[in-house]
Amino acid sequence: MPFATNDPNMLDDWLVAGPAPAPSASRTTRLLGETVRLSTDADGTPRCSLGDTPLAVQQRYGYLWVCPSGRPARPLFGFPEYDEPGRRRVDCGGIGVAVSGLRVIENFLDMAHFPFVHADYLGKVPHTEVAQYQVQVEPATGEIWATDCRFWQPRASAAHDASGSEVIYKYRVMQPFSAMLYKSSFRAGELDAIGIFLQPVDEEHVIAHTLLACYDDHSTDAELIAFQHTIFGQDKPILENHAFKRMPLEGRAETPTRGDTSSVTYRRWLRERGMRFGVRAAA
Ligand SMILES: [Fe+2]
Repeated sequence: MPFATNDPNMLDDWLVAGPAPAPSASRTTRLLGETVRLSTDADGTPRCSLGDTPLAVQQRYGYLWVCPSGRPARPLFGFPEYDEPGRRRVDCGGIGVAVSGLRVIENFLDMAHFPFVHADYLGKVPHTEVAQYQVQVEPATGEIWATDCRFWQPRASAAHDASGSEVIYKYRVMQPFSAMLYKSSFRAGELDAIGIFLQPVDEEHVIAHTLLACYDDHSTDAELIAFQHTIFGQDKPILENHAFKRMPLEGRAETPTRGDTSSVTYRRWLRERGMRFGVRAAA
């Protein structure tokens, strides 16, 4: 295997590689420390290769997904909202982040930082309390689900004005580098879906692909994308300023202290699957 990592959590799974090139076009991108070539045949068939070696690739949810070993341990996760009529699907583009993808997912799951990092958008002092919520690993899929999350938000999405509302959240972790967020939408009783799929450039760099499947009759695509970029732009410098780019999983380093049940579960879930890629080795 020509890749620098031997972690089956990466080699034997479907890794996002960004949008497919147009028919008869190709481009290169970085995956697990290597440069791979992505192309699309004239009939729409996607291809991926590393040098002369073809790699397993499929197109789903508007992106190409590559299995480096060609022996996927499981099918690509489901995302039924993507195909639901009435939802708008908006690819918000890829943003490079110079940190382990595990840090990005852990931050994505954390509500406690909203009032401080996303002030006047996703939170506002003194509304700082994270109410208790439920976290479980679903036996059938092995996915982490956090439910009953709620948080007071000044401006929860591009469609909301700044009058504030209590927002219901559900989080889901499908892969070590892929998670979804479901939150109150502008349509009563329906939840917007926001996917974050991290392309593993190497152990300390990712490209974060953000995908919306939302209900919003008010905002333009550009406004939806701008809102996501604003939020992500607030997280990016904090993520990149971690003292350690890789995430420790052992010992007492960075023991979570807040009510961040999701973080504790995510780290345990990573340990149980023997995650090594993007992990800081114990001292
Ligand atoms: Fe954030």
